[in-house]
Amino acid sequence: MEQPNQAKIIIAIDGHSSCGKSTVAKEIAKKLNYIYIDSGAMYRAVTLFALRNKIAKNEQVDVKALVACLDDITIEFRFNPVTSRNETYLNGDNVEEEIRQLPVSQHVSPVATISEVRERMVALQQEMGKNKGIVMDGRDIGTVVFPQAELKIFMTARPEVRAQRRYDELTAKGQQVSFEEILANVVERDRIDSSREVSPLKQADDALILDNSDINREEQLDWVLQQVQQTTNA
Ligand code: CDP
Repeated sequence: MEQPNQAKIIIAIDGHSSCGKSTVAKEIAKKLNYIYIDSGAMYRAVTLFALRNKIAKNEQVDVKALVACLDDITIEFRFNPVTSRNETYLNGDNVEEEIRQLPVSQHVSPVATISEVRERMVALQQEMGKNKGIVMDGRDIGTVVFPQAELKIFMTARPEVRAQRRYDELTAKGQQVSFEEILANVVERDRIDSSREVSPLKQADDALILDNSDINREEQLDWVLQQVQQTTNA
């Protein structure tokens, strides 16, 4: 279903944590031959820079020091033909694996609330989308990064369903975790993401809601493709 150049659109996918935004975004990008950008990976890369330079530790971030270093941070995505996916590079280093690890997860929330960091990331994201043909997922894509996106999707699922998915993922990796703890973490992250002052997670007025609590991956992909078709034919 490749689109001719002039029909390429911007697809913004926002929503709660652990509801499968990146899975949908990757599948759609592949189907349409669009670029997929994981905006969360960029906040994670800045966080890794802060950790490596001891600007972040013990779940605290020295905001002044990090803001002073922003010019020293270069973030890019490079396509890896072996894995067929974009990988995140920080100052020329492939950090795709490291940014998913616990120290980064523990420090990314405070980093993502720094307005100077957000300004930089948003400018980079807008540059990446200037030729359209892009699917970007995050928290503020349809509201701040691309308020003009042709298709905006706001994804959610019941907290219990999201917690169960995280639980299954982690136990499949052999980790010992408690369902109650994961559920509490899902609820707490919703609260932090939605209540922070800078670019809080909120649904854009013109976003379509996709609640995937009770549908499977194929049904979800079909629904999104239908929305793309309707948008590009409109
Ligand atoms: O793992 P999860 O999908 O919850 O997070 P992520 O997409 O990897 O993003 C990491 C962190 O960056 C989250 O804590 C988000 O709150 C934050 N973020 C953000 O503030 N704005 C975005 N556009 C994307 C992520």
